[in-house]
Amino acid sequence: MGAVDLLIKEIITVYGSTLLLTVVIVYIVHWQWAKFVKNIYRLHLMGFEAECAELAVNYKKRLFAPLNGAISNDKILQSEGAIRLLEIGVKTGENIQFYPDGTHLICVDWNRKLEDYLMKSDRAWQFSHVKFKKLIPSDGRSLKVIPSNCVDAVVTVRSLCACSSVRETLREIRRVLAPGGKYFFLEHVPDKEETFTRWLQDFLTKTKIYPSLFGDCRLDSNPLCNIKSTGFSKVSWESIVLKGYVTHPYHFYLSRNHIMGIATK
Ligand SMILES: C[S@@+](CC[C@H](N)C(=O)[O-])C[C@H]1O[C@@H](n2cnc3c(N)ncnc32)[C@H](O)[C@@H]1O
Repeated sequence: MGAVDLLIKEIITVYGSTLLLTVVIVYIVHWQWAKFVKNIYRLHLMGFEAECAELAVNYKKRLFAPLNGAISNDKILQSEGAIRLLEIGVKTGENIQFYPDGTHLICVDWNRKLEDYLMKSDRAWQFSHVKFKKLIPSDGRSLKVIPSNCVDAVVTVRSLCACSSVRETLREIRRVLAPGGKYFFLEHVPDKEETFTRWLQDFLTKTKIYPSLFGDCRLDSNPLCNIKSTGFSKVSWESIVLKGYVTHPYHFYLSRNHIMGIATK
């Protein structure tokens, strides 16, 4: 073997092993990173989001009050005195306590495991006043399996921010609502322009740091204009700021401003 052949062999060996090593490292980092992100998001939902849900209880009581006494568009449900309600991003069912007895509940959430949690876990008794119909493991933007005009109420709480298209999700919400049906929303919105918090919300969202750690949540999106332009006959809303103690106050500053309201089809 000549000197040139030896050189080529050496280069292939060195570069080949470097390439192989790089592929292995990238694979391990990617795999570990995915596991790390999954754990962070799980802790976020069970910790931070649960604390926010607790702080919002009194607002939710007011928001969901019109559900009591609501009359379904469906004749059979009317005779049962029940309504059909769809919640997008149901998580661990923090809002179910506010739904009237006998509510036929359809849930949409990415997380398939929630079906077992809501129906079979040792917390399932807390949801026994509603009839859990199904969990659709899907993005809120596509509710194809739900026929048009068949749902009496739709709920999103701190969930629109993670839907891949807010506009399409809202169109789907309006489509599935029966005439006169109501969409109840409580969504976090960014801070006022030209504040440091707003700058941070934009920065963390545009760099994808926040969405990649916290389930695609965007801190810079305000769905109000989209809600108003979706074709609802009436939209009533108010701004609210959650207040109280949470374990990570600096995190809370990023998503404590909300809009809360009802859009009627
Ligand atoms: C912040 S939590 C919602 C909090 C809950 N609604 C509450 O009131 O406490 C977001 C939930 O939406 C789900 N989710 C996130 N992105 C989604 C999407 N694009 N479509 C459907 N569900 C989604 C997550 O799995 C999670 O359960």
